[in-house]
Amino acid sequence: MIVYRTRDDLTGHLNSVRRDKNSIGLVPTMGALHRGHMSLVEKAATENDVVVVSIFVNPTQFNDPGDLESYPRSLDRDLEMLQKLEADLVFVPSIKEMYPEVDDRIYDLDPLDKVMEGIHRKGHFNGVAQIVSKLFLLTLPDRAYFGQKDFQQLVIVRRLKEILNLDIQIVACPIIREKDGLAMSSRNERLTREERKLAPYIYETLKLAREKKEEFSPSELKDWIGKRFDKIPELRLEYFEIVEDKALKSISDWNEGVNKVACLAVQLGRVRLIDNLNFD
Ligand code: PAJ
Repeated sequence: MIVYRTRDDLTGHLNSVRRDKNSIGLVPTMGALHRGHMSLVEKAATENDVVVVSIFVNPTQFNDPGDLESYPRSLDRDLEMLQKLEADLVFVPSIKEMYPEVDDRIYDLDPLDKVMEGIHRKGHFNGVAQIVSKLFLLTLPDRAYFGQKDFQQLVIVRRLKEILNLDIQIVACPIIREKDGLAMSSRNERLTREERKLAPYIYETLKLAREKKEEFSPSELKDWIGKRFDKIPELRLEYFEIVEDKALKSISDWNEGVNKVACLAVQLGRVRLIDNLNFD
């Protein structure tokens, strides 16, 4: 495994990979790696000759400076974990390396960035588009791996690929969960012991909600979810939406012939958690 810190070193290596007609799989991350990230790397390793993992806490996607500051960082441990898997190249650039000058590109992600996370984290997806476009253009991978955990991000990355007109296969990977159902996230580390005990309620609620489909209309279900979270005041529900998986339009009728995904965000103490579940 080789760790590169500069764009030139990475592209130099990748040019020779391409010359040898080997395929490239890219796994973009912000580090503080866990089994969710690992599942992406493992999948990439089975489908590509060379796997590139990037570790970069991208400042332009943080709308809250406190969140950026407190984002967990554990590079040594991350590299150890990657060493055990089949990651070939790890790219760990500095902020200056990725943003030698201010990035003022604005992407037209409408309407995908006008709902859910887009409402609660202003500018977040434009920042994601900035860094992902830089990583795509730098590495020109055959495939890029993204988790369903960040479902809205996945849909937006698919759009970004079209905007950039790049021939990259975007591979969606299933959500990896803890034994008690909590979706793995780098942010889980920041939960207190008491908060961590409450957190599985989120996935339990999503699963129960799916069972209630027969009983309730989508809008009744939203009310039911709101009431269920009211019972545990520590878990503050920011939104719950059931959307289709292309334009992220909220559905009003279960009979709409689209793939349905229920998405939510919850604030628990200092930590904001997101999760989602397929509702078909
Ligand atoms: P990060 O939160 O580090 O996540 C990196 C990738 O791992 C994302 O595609 C995310 O969806 C996936 N992932 C995280 N938790 C997962 C889980 N429990 N199961 C499956 N996949 C999981 O998402 C980002 O970083 C950034 O926005 C990034 C795309 C790197 C751009 O900066």
